[in-house]
Amino acid sequence: MNVLMISPGYPAEMALFTRGLARAGATVTGLGDQPPDALPPAARDALARYVHVGSLAAGAHVAATVRELARQARIDQVECLWEPYMVLAARLREDLGLPGLTVAQTVPFRDKERMKQLLDAAGLRTPWHASAATVGEVWAAAERVGYPLIVKPVDGAGSADTYRADSSADLDAILPSLRHVPRVSVEEFIEAEEFTYDTICADGQILVENICQYHPRPLLTKIHEWISPITLALRDLGDPGLQDGRELGAAAIRALGFRDGFTHMEWYRKADGEVVFGEIGARPPGARTVDVMNYATDADFFTAWAQAVTHGRISEPITRHYNAASIFKRASGFGRITGYEGLDRLLDEFGEHVVAVDLLPVGAPRRDWRATLIGDGMVIVRHPDLPPTLEMARRFAADLRLHAA
Ligand SMILES: Nc1ncnc2c1ncn2[C@@H]1O[C@H](COP(=O)(O)OP(=O)(O)OP(=O)(O)O)[C@@H](O)[C@H]1O
Ligand SMILES: [Mg+2]
Repeated sequence: MNVLMISPGYPAEMALFTRGLARAGATVTGLGDQPPDALPPAARDALARYVHVGSLAAGAHVAATVRELARQARIDQVECLWEPYMVLAARLREDLGLPGLTVAQTVPFRDKERMKQLLDAAGLRTPWHASAATVGEVWAAAERVGYPLIVKPVDGAGSADTYRADSSADLDAILPSLRHVPRVSVEEFIEAEEFTYDTICADGQILVENICQYHPRPLLTKIHEWISPITLALRDLGDPGLQDGRELGAAAIRALGFRDGFTHMEWYRKADGEVVFGEIGARPPGARTVDVMNYATDADFFTAWAQAVTHGRISEPITRHYNAASIFKRASGFGRITGYEGLDRLLDEFGEHVVAVDLLPVGAPRRDWRATLIGDGMVIVRHPDLPPTLEMARRFAADLRLHAA
């Protein structure tokens, strides 16, 4: 099986999926805009060949390059797990007559209005929503949706340019910040807990599921720098409180006609138990969530994905042994990391349950916490039982401090 992997080494997790393809027995050609010597070793070692293009955004040039590649050696499949180039990958598939998501099937995963229209048509509960391209349309949408509401880009990521408005005065204050966004979704604000529903599928069948809970909701972690965001992969997917979310997730996959690969959905659970769709991507979750899924199961979801898309099945059954939580840290102060506080005590107390400590070293410049959920580093803890997992995660969130100056 010859697989063309778009952007095989960037973002960093792509290298692990590329390696997964090689481990699943595929011959992998990479195509990306990273210079060859910038490829992470995991990707470089897994690739039979790497084609370097100046820009993946130059769609016509990339398509011509790939047609030429296909003349030289058969391409059986095109894969891309990086959101900005999923439509490009779909176009290449259509060009080469290969199976997998078409452009028309990919667009609803990128355009959150189209996505919700299809789910509405399937009878699934989405937030009331309307799309708007002008200030006038935003006001008209707000009139229909009511307050509190959310305004966000139709193709946003990382909660960028996403705002809550509790009143028309709030909305008025927000509008100038949205001037550079061509089209927004205006949505009913759903007061709820927030979860993911992630799957690997083959032939339209769900082979494996995962659910994470976010603590707190992503929008809050985007507003307050002092928060240490937690992503908690739950061990017990049989929990009665999760069943409506699982059903919603499976129904969303059916409604969008997704068949093969990773999906990452977000959904809300209100205090009265009602579940509401948030969004879905035809790709894995980012921010090292796949690592958290691996720690929850002792499995390798990178290779499991590759097996699913090349063989239509996953070779080893995946069993959930643990709850696993990532805790992301943001240092206090600007500039470079000067030290940690509380780490030794936390490791003394919880060490056996701590499976990853990946903090920026002293002397490293701080990362932009608004641009990357990873922040200045992360810790992963796990435990078979939920309360101790949550307790440990909360302690790392509260008692581990990074300082910068
Ligand atoms: N209708 C809504 N009601 C309540 N909160 C919302 C709503 N829409 C978005 N949010 C909040 O804003 C966050 C970001 O919105 P959303 O997930 O749609 O966009 P995103 O920027 O694509 O996120 P991601 O980083 O997951 O790609 C959500 O996780 C949620 O906390
Ligand atoms: Mg989201």
